[in-house]
Amino acid sequence: MPTLKIDGQDVPFEPGDTIMRAAWRHGIEIPHYCWHPGLSVAANCRMCLVEITSGRRMDLPILRWDDKKNEYVPHTKPKLYPACQMTCGEDMEVSTTGEEAQGAQAAVQEFLLLNHPVDCPICDQAGECKLQDYWLEHGHQLKRKLTEPVHKPKGVRFGPTIVYDGERCVMCTRCIRVCDELVGDHVLDMRQRGNKSEVFVAPGRQLDHRYTLMTEHVCPVGALTSRDFRFKARVWFLRSAPGVCVGCARGCNTHVDFDPRYDRVYRLRPRDNMDVNRFWMCDDGMMTYRQVHEDRLLVPAIGRGEEREELTVKEVLRVAHRRLQQHEGARVGVVLSAHHSSEDNHVLASFARDVLGTDKIYIAANGGWAGDDILRHGDDNPNRAGARAAAGADAESLEDLIQDVLGGEVDAVVALGWVSMEGADELGPIAKLRTVVSLTSNDGPLPQVANIVIPVCSWAEQSGTFVNEQGIAQEFRRAIPAPGNIRPAWQTLVELAGLMGGQLKYAALSDVRTALTPTGAGPTAGEARA
Ligand code: SF4
Ligand code: SF4
Ligand code: FES
Repeated sequence: MPTLKIDGQDVPFEPGDTIMRAAWRHGIEIPHYCWHPGLSVAANCRMCLVEITSGRRMDLPILRWDDKKNEYVPHTKPKLYPACQMTCGEDMEVSTTGEEAQGAQAAVQEFLLLNHPVDCPICDQAGECKLQDYWLEHGHQLKRKLTEPVHKPKGVRFGPTIVYDGERCVMCTRCIRVCDELVGDHVLDMRQRGNKSEVFVAPGRQLDHRYTLMTEHVCPVGALTSRDFRFKARVWFLRSAPGVCVGCARGCNTHVDFDPRYDRVYRLRPRDNMDVNRFWMCDDGMMTYRQVHEDRLLVPAIGRGEEREELTVKEVLRVAHRRLQQHEGARVGVVLSAHHSSEDNHVLASFARDVLGTDKIYIAANGGWAGDDILRHGDDNPNRAGARAAAGADAESLEDLIQDVLGGEVDAVVALGWVSMEGADELGPIAKLRTVVSLTSNDGPLPQVANIVIPVCSWAEQSGTFVNEQGIAQEFRRAIPAPGNIRPAWQTLVELAGLMGGQLKYAALSDVRTALTPTGAGPTAGEARA
């Protein structure tokens, strides 16, 4: 592979690479606002100006002030090039930290801040703002403009999800390019000139496509904020765990941002994975973090409706054990979940076969949503493939379970998860059974028809694996601890199996994973880039 030198380091590049892309791949940061690895090159912010000290170097005639002569005298200075636009050349030498490049970066930084409001204390981007970062790294000087800054529209609702602050905008056009290039919807554009420029929404429109939150995600400053996240958390308090979106079978890689002081998840952000989601997520996927805290079931209980009675985990497991023992194992229907990890599903399938001795295995899943040709998959379940692999090829749907209950073949149910394409009404025949055990993190149709409810960890509270529609097994890690004594479903099932005299020899998640791999979890996705 050909190489060029950036700040003395040999950096390989692919034909057609720009200096910026080669540096990015190699882990060298060249300051930038408008460049984004997933978007076209706009080259309008000029923050990435670098000096080419060999090959294509060119000197420009300038006038420089001479103190001794007390006048301007002719001089030269090297022409600087935008690293995001200039393609690499073999043996090219580039300086991003020399006096000329740093002077230009500081000048651009000062220029961008001339009219910028100093509202960092109330800005949601504070702590992850490129203007703040580069001011420290490349500017670090006081503002020389003392006149009133240019004022522009603030707090403009671009649509249901995004608010725009024109005074904070650096006109990088990333948001416009996300709409144009990712979504194919030219709903944003720029108007006016110079320091009057602003981004605006096409007349008669709202910013309301399915990827609006990606405009906020790419905005390098606090000009676009998410109505969902704004004013909720300061980012320096947040920590992050690698996750996988539960919105659909695409399995977009995520950063799960949580506050460890409150064990609360505040948002998801896309985690780059070139094989799955590249740099992006859809809006519905970004909002799935809410499931962690909404309609959460925290207390084990027995009974239905008004008669529901709260118990401890130990008590509820003993009740589940006694009730299940009253049924012939082969007549117990076991419901896996396309929303739970492969590990949970695998242990539940083992529980069905090895402890209960039943082959009546079903899969509960959502019924699908509108996909698209960008990311969204028509199957709105994150792990149908993993549940199928655990169940074996002959797994049936909840509709089949209802038929088997009505036909008298199934007289008790153990169900994982809360999602179901059927509502609680359609699950009515199951609600009439004497024993329905629900292992669930949230309320939903399945727990509502159960008379033994055992809370288990949500996806944010445990590590696990989802297999996406490409057959890629993607691991996610625990972000927050589960409340109280709640444990992952697989661990709860191991304990229940022990009470029932069965043997499920899974002491740790790694034991389940070892057992899981041959059953079709698929290849593990390459480590995602940060
Ligand atoms: S709103 Fe943000 S992303 Fe859009 S042009 Fe302004 S600074 Fe760039
Ligand atoms: S496309 Fe699917 S997996 Fe990706 S963010 Fe959207 S819902 Fe989540
Ligand atoms: S990043 Fe190169 S000009 Fe903006």
